[in-house]
Amino acid sequence: MNAIKKGDSGCAIVTGAAGGIGLAAARQLVSQGFSVFLVDRDEGGLQAALKDVTAGGGNAIAHVADVTSTQQVNEAVKAAAGWGRINALVNVAGGSGPKPVRDIEGIDDTDWDFVINLNLKSVFLFCRATVPYMRAQRYGRIVNTSSSYSRGRKGPVTTQGTRLAYAAAKAGIIGFGAQLSKDVADCGITVNTVVPALTMGEPGSRILERFQKLPDAARNTVLSELPMGRPGEAYEVAAAIGFLASESASYVSGIALPVDGAL
Ligand SMILES: NC(=O)c1ccc[n+]([C@@H]2O[C@H](COP(=O)([O-])OP(=O)(O)OC[C@H]3O[C@@H](n4cnc5c(N)ncnc54)[C@H](O)[C@@H]3O)[C@@H](O)[C@H]2O)c1
Repeated sequence: MNAIKKGDSGCAIVTGAAGGIGLAAARQLVSQGFSVFLVDRDEGGLQAALKDVTAGGGNAIAHVADVTSTQQVNEAVKAAAGWGRINALVNVAGGSGPKPVRDIEGIDDTDWDFVINLNLKSVFLFCRATVPYMRAQRYGRIVNTSSSYSRGRKGPVTTQGTRLAYAAAKAGIIGFGAQLSKDVADCGITVNTVVPALTMGEPGSRILERFQKLPDAARNTVLSELPMGRPGEAYEVAAAIGFLASESASYVSGIALPVDGAL
């Protein structure tokens, strides 16, 4: 583990750091001088992300944790705080679950809880564990990740699984951020949400693989709905995260920023 260097931007926790947007966010934050505390449950992916992020001289460590476990989240945040001053928390981990189901009748309690816990409860857990540190230092930047699906989407399930639960969780993240931003506004802590639409990661990333496996007709339908005629790229979402996590974004709080190519 490298010590946090004097004069850098402090520690940024990034969850889902082994995934497409999480890795891009980690790269972005390292380029802004953050020491990045990478969290994911995918140990192999996390090691690859650590190698990637530190390749250019960036400072990072990897921490395996399940973001839906209160105990593991608390341990992760404690470890990050022991490493360095937590100036930013970027919650990226999420997903729509493995079961492609559109109709409400097809969603059982287990499917529902899985998606809500992964996307919404995880954000609550990380914020609850991190805010006390930020409150004490009277400074913090929290960035959460919603989705354009928070407004729903007509048509068959394509790149998303349990879409109803996913839309509910992602809309919940926007409400959560709106409220928490007001609750901590007088403590120097900002809370914002990025709202990406379909976003591709690097080759090998889950979403890219899922998108490429779609039948041609389904893929063309998805593309025809995108005003720019192309999906977003993970680095484009990461750029917005980087701004919201920076010191410069000091008077921006409680927003849900679309990064969706005019969708
Ligand atoms: N890619 C898109 O099209 C898109 C669009 C809108 C919103 N989003 C949101 O952006 C975020 C990242 O998406 P992505 O495309 O990079 O996904 P991804 O699947 O590539 O990455 C998600 C990461 O989260 C990790 N993860 C999953 N469950 C976890 C758990 N319980 N504990 C710890 N880590 C866990 C995975 O291992 C993975 O590395 C998600 O919240 C997603 O809902 C993505």
